[in-house]
Amino acid sequence: MGVSRIDGVPVSNISGTSPWDTQLHEFDYAVSDVEGAIPEQLRGTLYRIGPGRFEVGNHPIEHIFDGDGMVSRFDITDRGVHFRNRYVHTKAYGRSNRTSLPPKGFGTQRAGGALANALRFPENMANTNVLIHDDKLYALWEGGRPHRLDLDTLSTHGTESFGGALKRLGAFSAHPKTDPRTGEVFNFGLDFFPRPMIRCYRLTPQGRLTTISTIPIPRLGFIHDFALTDRYLVFVLGPLVVRHPIPVALGLRPFDHALSYQPDLGTTIVLVPRDGGEHVRVEHDSLFHFHVTNAYDTDDATTVELVAHDGDGGWTRWNGHLRDYRDNPGPAFGGTLTRLVIDRRRQTVRTEELSDLGGEFPQLDQRRTAAAHRFTYLAQSTRPGGNPDTITTIDHADNRHRAYRTDGESTVCEPLFVADPTSPAEGDGWLLTVLHQPARRTSALLVLRADRPDDGPVATATLTHHIPMTFHGAFRPA
Ligand SMILES: [Fe+2]
Repeated sequence: MGVSRIDGVPVSNISGTSPWDTQLHEFDYAVSDVEGAIPEQLRGTLYRIGPGRFEVGNHPIEHIFDGDGMVSRFDITDRGVHFRNRYVHTKAYGRSNRTSLPPKGFGTQRAGGALANALRFPENMANTNVLIHDDKLYALWEGGRPHRLDLDTLSTHGTESFGGALKRLGAFSAHPKTDPRTGEVFNFGLDFFPRPMIRCYRLTPQGRLTTISTIPIPRLGFIHDFALTDRYLVFVLGPLVVRHPIPVALGLRPFDHALSYQPDLGTTIVLVPRDGGEHVRVEHDSLFHFHVTNAYDTDDATTVELVAHDGDGGWTRWNGHLRDYRDNPGPAFGGTLTRLVIDRRRQTVRTEELSDLGGEFPQLDQRRTAAAHRFTYLAQSTRPGGNPDTITTIDHADNRHRAYRTDGESTVCEPLFVADPTSPAEGDGWLLTVLHQPARRTSALLVLRADRPDDGPVATATLTHHIPMTFHGAFRPA
């Protein structure tokens, strides 16, 4: 087994039994502990990404969004599962290794007081999502450029500007959408100078990036995800907005303290035509969400499905959990899977709750992106608070829920759907997720049947160590 510890990184004396425990080692080995049988049709590579370390030296990372990005790669072949993990070599990572001091983050302040933090933006941690496109692997972070990684070795090849199309401060957000019919990728970045705006991008199958349009927004706010239909990029702009910028600009408070949930502002839904035409705005009640499942057009309506969180106070409670991720179990994990039917002509919105169990990280058979989908896959929590312990498949045809629940001590993460390449039918395939067993300090790749997660894993590949929980991932078929 190949193991190397990162040179120059002081070993922390902070350790515990949380799914958010640091993993400083970089591994490279064939996984020998495989229970069950990996399906013959399931061949390819799963990439997962999230924060890898939660302290630098003896300084804790103050917010879960601020850990250095680490990619885990599970390569599934006829020979079994091969595991490899590597940190993304960002500027912030290099500096922290040299100085043993944490970076300026979304909720983490640099050492040195206000002067060291004034007029500084959070650093690009490359820890949020991965994109596989044009045979390239990118580590994404929503406030800056992607980092390009080697698909095989995971070594970092610097930041990507797509031939200069991303300007120096140009952001490429962490939830791009690939149109399965055209192979194009759509994404956005928030611009804040000279005024707040959403810059919408198209990335061709050959990797050429162009700006579709720029949409002015009244206030700078938190926009983590968007939806794609045949005709539109859809932004659901909730009222989590920058309200207290001055103490942050002066370096007195961390960036997350600038955000405030202002329900009186309501939610503005913006539909931006993919061909760059006039955008449509529809006003709606206040709504807070992180993630969208999918969206699609029907005649005069655009339907968006997302996970809505308890509005007022939702952000405050969530952010408390994201700051105190080891000890504060937070609100009941996840929100309510919700359908918004937007009548573009009448400019009205009808909402419908699709599940009353708390869930997050909604996924679908990505061959259905931008079209109506039948199945949603969620990470859910059956406990009153804390991290997800359940993977659920919801069949919207009959609203049946089928769920796999861990032993209660363990947690899971986003369930990524991988299609059976021999079947074009929606939902024929598997769900890949990572199980975290903090008490045993191990993690495992779980393979579940997408239509019957309640049968339990068809295969479990257990690592000889733990990896921290990951945010998002992608699968590259063999
Ligand atoms: Fe996300």
